[in-house]
Amino acid sequence: NPASKVYVANKIKACNTVGFHSMTHKLEDSSSEEELLSLIDNLNKDESIDGILVQLPLPKHINELKIINAIAPEKDVDGFLAHNLGTLATGELNSAIACTPFGVMALLYAYGIDPSGKNSVVIGRSNIVGKPMSLLLLSADATVTMAHSKTQNLIQICQNADILVAAAGQPEMVTKDFIKKDAIVIDVGIHRKENGKLCGDTHQNAKEIASALTPVPGGVGPMTIAMLMLNTALAAWNKDRKS
Ligand code: GUN
Repeated sequence: NPASKVYVANKIKACNTVGFHSMTHKLEDSSSEEELLSLIDNLNKDESIDGILVQLPLPKHINELKIINAIAPEKDVDGFLAHNLGTLATGELNSAIACTPFGVMALLYAYGIDPSGKNSVVIGRSNIVGKPMSLLLLSADATVTMAHSKTQNLIQICQNADILVAAAGQPEMVTKDFIKKDAIVIDVGIHRKENGKLCGDTHQNAKEIASALTPVPGGVGPMTIAMLMLNTALAAWNKDRKS
């Protein structure tokens, strides 16, 4: 997957920058579920490894959830395991949190934006962004609406958002018409346009109405990687604490 190649290269670079040892296992497209499960099993048992990340998407013949849930919970630095998403839902914020939504929360706090009591709309309901994003905003006391491809009156719902998170995977779908005056808009999308330029899920005209809009590239993407490094450091510290 061409996008995955770029993401993985950036993650390796970040590991080198912060001084983490990293190993990459590139499997063939035709690799079986068993091969991948056996690799994860070895990494689970390997004492020298604190974090495991399976870059998604996986080929169609492989059951993504089965693979993700085979990772040892304490090594799940992506925060994708059912266990880790579940503890987010129950409010036990002591296991790995999915890196992209975690990065969005870090950005909000860095800019002094407290979601408490604010109307927040998350467009997209994926396990890796939309669902954990909604849970994190909820745990920060926001009033949260989850919107998705079947949502009716999407524009009106978004017009009510003080914080709007665009994670629909649709290039430039969120235009200025979606945006309440002075809203905070977080753009999780990244797409390559026909002219070769990168864009997000939000149209640039959103800037005319919003008080803040994350850039693409250079907004949420680097935050995702920063939180991956943080999750990995926490996994290593937690292991040391237990041993
Ligand atoms: N594919 C797209 N985003 C991600 C991510 O944050 N982690 C992994 N593992 N795969 C992805």
